[in-house]
Amino acid sequence: MLVDGFGRELTGVRVSLTDRCNFDCVYCHNEGLGDTRGPMEPADDEMGTDDVVRFLEVVAEFGVGKVKFTGGEPMLREDLEEIVRRAPDGMETSLTTNGTFLPGRAEALCEAGLDRVNVSQDALDPTAFEDVTQSTQYDAVLEGVQAAVDAGLTPVKLNMVVFEQTAGYVPEMVDHVAANEGLQLQLIEYMPELAGRPEWAVDIDRVHGWLEEQADRIEHREMHDRRRYWVPDDDGDGEGMVEIVDPVGNEEFCANCHRVRVTHEGYLKGCLNRNDDLKPMGEMTKPDIRETLRETVEDRVPYYGEYMIRDDDGDWVINEEYIGA
Ligand code: GTP
Ligand code: 5AD
Ligand code: SF4
Repeated sequence: MLVDGFGRELTGVRVSLTDRCNFDCVYCHNEGLGDTRGPMEPADDEMGTDDVVRFLEVVAEFGVGKVKFTGGEPMLREDLEEIVRRAPDGMETSLTTNGTFLPGRAEALCEAGLDRVNVSQDALDPTAFEDVTQSTQYDAVLEGVQAAVDAGLTPVKLNMVVFEQTAGYVPEMVDHVAANEGLQLQLIEYMPELAGRPEWAVDIDRVHGWLEEQADRIEHREMHDRRRYWVPDDDGDGEGMVEIVDPVGNEEFCANCHRVRVTHEGYLKGCLNRNDDLKPMGEMTKPDIRETLRETVEDRVPYYGEYMIRDDDGDWVINEEYIGA
């Protein structure tokens, strides 16, 4: 097991398979890299199937048990089923997608060994959905979510980025997952750093407050990095789970970050928010990947929380007290 200087073990990896996307969400940080490209752009800079599989085989040697495939839109990759099929035995595989390609493909992904999916769904209202995604494919997303549930890629987590345009839809999204088996909700704090528009941020504590006000109905449990809420449905015979993902406001979030990332071009990256530590890895041999992985983990530094403090010039620097904690 690889451990960084802050005592964080490496247990998972997030692999971006492409930076192409058929949506253009107004908030998108594209896994920390900025803008996505259109779906028809050339894909010749993307990691090849064998490269992705080789990387997964190396991380499995170090005891990494989870991979999340992301994009852009990872389902634009036609070799996704093959990558999932060739992932090391026993590794949990999941996907974060906009959902539009799930109808017709969810079953094949399940058969290839995919464990579950997260689908971006920011509202239950087609107009709000269109405003956020700049796409008219609302029905395809709903069908995609259903296809994933039917195929057994559960729990299907609906990713809702909570910001100015969507905050008003939180209550109905909470009721929606409570009423529909197989669904969970992730309420995600908007990260303005790489998406621009800091004025869109809303205070995620207001969402916690709203959920906690209903303590007679909604049960609250604190778990490691995320707060979770159990919400019964109207009939009282089922329940939904709501997770809050609040990297910006939760000082524990980065302390519980146990993953490194790979960009679509095959660079290893220690932190979503940093692009100054990218290390080329894509076409390397296994011994070289092992070395680059070790270096990436060694160099990892948390981003949010008390781990960074301001120096006398007002610049963010590492709080040395936390090193080796
Ligand atoms: P699971 O719960 O295991 O499915 O993973 P996840 O929730 O991390 O995955 P998902 O891709 O659905 O991401 C949900 C939100 O968390 C998105 O807004 C991501 O950008 C954010 N996120 C995921 N990983 C990180 C990370 O390492 N750092 C930060 N700051 N945010 C992250
Ligand atoms: N802030 C928070 N979450 C974001 N996502 C994309 N951009 C942002 C942002 N600026 C989330 C979406 C998507 C996931 C991969 O990242 O919910 O599902
Ligand atoms: Fe995200 Fe913090 Fe991990 Fe960076 S260190 S990837 S900001 S959780």
